[in-house]
Amino acid sequence: LHRDLEQILGAPVVMLSEVGSTNQELADRARDAALHGQTPEDLTLVATDFQSQGRGRLDRTWVVEPGEALTFSLLLRPAAPSGQPLPTQSFGWLTMLLSCAVVQALADHGVQAQVKWPNDVLVGDRKMVGVLASLVTFDHLPPAVVVGAGINVSSTHLPVDTATSVVLEGGTGDRALLLRAMVSRFLPIYRSYCADPTQLTRPDGTLRALVEGLLGTLGRRVRAELPGDQTPLEGQAVGLDDHGALIIRDDDGAHHHLNAGDVIHLRP
Ligand code: BTN
Repeated sequence: LHRDLEQILGAPVVMLSEVGSTNQELADRARDAALHGQTPEDLTLVATDFQSQGRGRLDRTWVVEPGEALTFSLLLRPAAPSGQPLPTQSFGWLTMLLSCAVVQALADHGVQAQVKWPNDVLVGDRKMVGVLASLVTFDHLPPAVVVGAGINVSSTHLPVDTATSVVLEGGTGDRALLLRAMVSRFLPIYRSYCADPTQLTRPDGTLRALVEGLLGTLGRRVRAELPGDQTPLEGQAVGLDDHGALIIRDDDGAHHHLNAGDVIHLRP
């Protein structure tokens, strides 16, 4: 698997039996390499079957039982085919793009899932996967992104009825197969993004169509819990803006743009 993945990615692959957080580990390794005058490689992968201190959005913990999940992270240094690093303003889309690749890979293995804005993959209303991206900055290099996914693979007794696993939904429990599928599905999407990130902001863009096609949130009635004592926002999710913010039309017809960082929970 290790060799296979290195060949698919054309980048180093680190498989660990246990690690605190694959996102953190990868960011640390990249910063360390940069400090020693090396250039961290685009598409470097860190994966583990047991992540003991996973992190979610808004610094929440992301906990799974040992041996039940697959967690992996990719270091991305998005650049145009000319080698010119991409400006950071489109990096926010990378969470969505990895989520789309995960949905495609699950479909390849018999599980029909959808993306839930901003960073989950659900089957029906149950969460199977969480995705998280963070920016990694360096002193002498353009910023990179670490994007990671945690997949409930083989849990059969989940503590909450809002969660599910690949096996519970009739899919494969073979982590190696799933990891290879997810990485293989992500690569063409990532290459397409690097070649032309404006595809995400043009209504006729191929990536835009991919995201809108897999985003189950669109068209649904949702309730967004907001920070502090702000009143929750209810309405219909009608689209994404150019930055990937969710556009909600409330019952008076007013449109609100919600940034991922401003939403505590988005509920159906
Ligand atoms: C969420 O549900 O808020 C996102 C969870 C993201 C978890 C993944 S698992 C791999 C990577 N490493 C982490 O510490 N978190 C992400």
